[in-house]
Amino acid sequence: MTGTVWIDGERFSAESAQVSVFDRGFLYGDSVFETLRTYGKRPFALDEHLSRLERSAERVLIRMPLDRDGFRREVNEALGAVDYDESLVRIMLTRGRGESLGLDPGLSNTPLRVMLVMPLVAPAAHKYAEGIGVITYRAPRLADGTAAAGAKVANYLAAVLAIDAARKASAEEALFVDAEQRVLEGSTSNVFAVRGGRLVTPPEELGILPGITRAHVLSLAAGRGLLTELRSLSVDELFEAEELFISSSIRELLPVVSVDGRRIGDGRPGKTTLALLSDFRVAARAV
Ligand SMILES: Cc1ncc(COP(=O)(O)O)c(C=O)c1O
Repeated sequence: MTGTVWIDGERFSAESAQVSVFDRGFLYGDSVFETLRTYGKRPFALDEHLSRLERSAERVLIRMPLDRDGFRREVNEALGAVDYDESLVRIMLTRGRGESLGLDPGLSNTPLRVMLVMPLVAPAAHKYAEGIGVITYRAPRLADGTAAAGAKVANYLAAVLAIDAARKASAEEALFVDAEQRVLEGSTSNVFAVRGGRLVTPPEELGILPGITRAHVLSLAAGRGLLTELRSLSVDELFEAEELFISSSIRELLPVVSVDGRRIGDGRPGKTTLALLSDFRVAARAV
């Protein structure tokens, strides 16, 4: 792995960075995190990511070891210390090591913070030009219906299995579908459909991760005068969409041209999708 690591503020190379096997992040997936990227070497939407980190930590009762300014400073100092064209920054916060094994969160009050800064590997240009395929994946996510729903909790096992199913179907992403046939989000992305000229995306009440990119897409859509609907989207509606795309900090807006092997729209990235992608890139590079 190429990258640089900060553990509780101390810098390590990717090879020498170590955390304890007794850390609860390792033992129980007892941790929250954020992934963001730079544009022009500056972190994009850092405050929005830090605010979501605070909300995630609060939901799962992990104490924030630094205030907002402290995290902001650490991220900016770390980015100043590396020399990558563009970076991916992953901020992790675990509940730390317990006094003994056991699930009781009260066993640890010394959270561990780890930050990875790595050269950004963005999706290949042809994926934006040609679009990607996704699958639908019917399974509950681990935090569904719990206090942690909507928090960015590090246990991605359900998403790992979903991606395995996607890879086996030669698809790029798996869209979680709940028992009521509602499309929720991707394994690491939010989902949007264009239907009847309107932009539709599932609402936060369904326990999706409130994506930072999703929020920017919604405001760019409003800026274009595009009508948006935050409502659940059925699998049938997905197949009948004029356009589909997924969004995430690393993938920006990625056009989806097939679902479960069935062609969406005319099988090419849609006009609205590409216009919003272009708006997003202009906005991200401008801040
Ligand atoms: C489950 C899930 N939904 C949505 C997203 C997209 O969020 P963002 O746009 O903040 O990267 C992610 C990002 O990793 C995710 O893991």
